[in-house]
Amino acid sequence: MDNENKGAWTSKIGFVLAAAGSAVGLGNLWRFPFTAANNGGGAFLLLYLILVFTVGLTLLLLETGVGFRMRVNPVDAMKKINPHLGFIGSVGIFAVTVIFGFYSVVGGWIIHYLFLFVRHGLTESSATYFENFIAQPVLPLVYTFAFLFVTAFIVYRGVQEGIEKYSKIMMPLLFLLLIALLVRSVTLPNAMEGLKFFLMPDFSKVNAMTFLAALGQTFFSLSLGMGIFITYGAYLKEEETFPIHLSMSVICLDTLVSLLAGMMIFPAVFSFGLSINAGPTLIFITLPKIFADMPFGNIAAVVFFALLSLAAITSSISMLEVSIAYLNDKYKVPRSKAVVGYTLLTVILSIPFSLSFGKWSDFKLTGRNLFDFADMVASNIFLPVGGLLLCIAVGWFYDAKKLRLFKSDKKNAFFAFAVKYLAPLAVIAVLIDSLGLLK
Ligand code: TRP
Repeated sequence: MDNENKGAWTSKIGFVLAAAGSAVGLGNLWRFPFTAANNGGGAFLLLYLILVFTVGLTLLLLETGVGFRMRVNPVDAMKKINPHLGFIGSVGIFAVTVIFGFYSVVGGWIIHYLFLFVRHGLTESSATYFENFIAQPVLPLVYTFAFLFVTAFIVYRGVQEGIEKYSKIMMPLLFLLLIALLVRSVTLPNAMEGLKFFLMPDFSKVNAMTFLAALGQTFFSLSLGMGIFITYGAYLKEEETFPIHLSMSVICLDTLVSLLAGMMIFPAVFSFGLSINAGPTLIFITLPKIFADMPFGNIAAVVFFALLSLAAITSSISMLEVSIAYLNDKYKVPRSKAVVGYTLLTVILSIPFSLSFGKWSDFKLTGRNLFDFADMVASNIFLPVGGLLLCIAVGWFYDAKKLRLFKSDKKNAFFAFAVKYLAPLAVIAVLIDSLGLLK
């Protein structure tokens, strides 16, 4: 964001809303369930929770803390530590550019479903309908562009007012609806099978790829690895004490939404006898079935997809916003030009991702279509590498103790130890372990 926006949060709640708005999105309701499904369910969940509250927490505190104490954008923060470290932001920007490209394709699907349920709902099998829809060359892209246009429009006009206001109503509403859907789902016949799959770890299904998937999901879901929270932390009011509890609330909220999403999706998948291997298409096939099976299902579907669109948009705003700020800080590209240029780039990027479900579905890399491959590489490898570089920069070229995030010296020393050794080692171990398996 521009420098003149410094201290942008009028209140702490503004920070929490924007941070949670960035974190809670398609990552929780779309990516988390199918990633858990692909990686064996319960065991993945356990690994994911462990990684969120160790590596994820460390990085979220680190990013926010760097912004809070240094009070500059990510690029200048790295340069303050060492003039040669300015490049670190680029890894994250590369990752997020790719992620934004495929995220907007899914954002487009969501908007299509919103319109679909506003008009009449589904008249055929949800799986057939969805597979036919995403295989089309043009229609899905029209919705993708609409999604991108709305995001760009909001970022162009300035984020503050709108987002703060909407999030206050939207988040609690999304929450309530999730709970209603969850109640419907767990009372379906055979729901227990689904809950068991999701909640009971089966360690025979764990391998290095499970770790990698859990690590990638941690970064993706918490929007880590590209300095979003450095920017957001710099907007907090300057005070003596760093508000740890704000970061904790963001993590807990984000994790809770993912848990609710899983508990809503899996019982339905098992109850309706759907394929657990549906990958990125999982929620689009499962959810319509839950809606069809509940009273006022069509209305619930409209509200749900409307909320999901907003959750997706608040997340993509953070992706666009931080990339724009980066172009602005590093190359002095004026904001308006950066928004237009970067959005056009994303439009172009989204085309092959969308086509990889139809015309180009035979084109495979490491056995994945282009969409899955890009998600794997950007989310599971580049985001963690971005986080790793940040830990190395602060841990080895600076000292995380100096950020004084905690009141007690002991805690600060432990945090510094985690930044210098624990988090980097965990990330390196997972990456090295799994690279051999990337076939
Ligand atoms: N966390 C968001 C979600 O769960 C997605 C997201 C927003 C993101 N900003 C990001 C992912 C930056 C990676 C990096 O939907």
